Amino acid sequence: FTLPSFPYVFKIIKDVFGASKNMDRATVKRKYLMVKHVDRVGRMADTLEFSYAALPLARFHPELLQELRTLAPSSFEIDGDKVIIKHLYIERRMIPLNLHLEKASEPELEEAVKEYGNAIRELAIANIFPGDMLWKNFGVTRYGRVVFYDYDEIEYMTDMNFRKIPPAPYEEMEMSGEPWYSAGPMDVFPEEFATFLLGVPRVRKAFLKHHRDLLAPKFWQEAQRRIREGYVEDFFPYPVELRFCKLFPPAAGAASS
Ligand SMILES: Nc1ncnc2c1ncn2[C@@H]1O[C@H](COP(=O)(O)OP(=O)(O)O)[C@@H](O)[C@H]1O
Ligand SMILES: [Mg+2]
Repeated sequence: FTLPSFPYVFKIIKDVFGASKNMDRATVKRKYLMVKHVDRVGRMADTLEFSYAALPLARFHPELLQELRTLAPSSFEIDGDKVIIKHLYIERRMIPLNLHLEKASEPELEEAVKEYGNAIRELAIANIFPGDMLWKNFGVTRYGRVVFYDYDEIEYMTDMNFRKIPPAPYEEMEMSGEPWYSAGPMDVFPEEFATFLLGVPRVRKAFLKHHRDLLAPKFWQEAQRRIREGYVEDFFPYPVELRFCKLFPPAAGAASS
């Protein structure tokens, strides 16, 4: 939840997760801690973790209190005129990417989709697989940068198994809508991403223009190989015009970004 007057969001772990989600409180906490320990490469929001945070009850909309009672009753109590949240994460508020795309003009949309793919790409190179790459799990910062913020399903790239979809044993099977291949818990089929992520035609078009390679296993396997070989990429969160290296250009022959 958030406050219109405060540029942060408050995140509470629910008491009950949807039946389809194989998730629990300890796992969520572990994943948020993992983000504290890795290089966020400018593509994951930082979180501040609080215990027993007291917020004024008067600022809570009744609907929000009701939602808290339903979804997270163990996480808060009301003490006089304060709501005491037993555990929460605070994070910079961004514009959720799905909402940004709905309102975006064509050039804005192309820029945001390009940024989205770059965020996924850079995280992969830095050994992070986001897990749930739906548009609503990314935000757009004040500077138009796309940043990931839903850490529940995050994994190390090197723990994943990126696979090509095996050919169907016979043609009808491919049309049946039923999968003909089984998937282990760490298996990922990049060829499936388009089905889940690129349902909106103009988004699909922009994505294919800039990031088609993310839809095949090769990019992911290659990224894993480079990580395993110990290759550490440099990331530059600011465009080159804003960087000091403009004043101190790299020596001739040195790599530039
Ligand atoms: N930093 C943020 N700024 C703005 N909105 C956010 C932020 N973090 C989350 N949200 C909103 O809350 C929703 C749920 O948050 P998320 O971290 O994805 O948790 P969940 O595990 O419930 O999906 C997001 O889809 C988005 O709409
Ligand atoms: Mg989410």
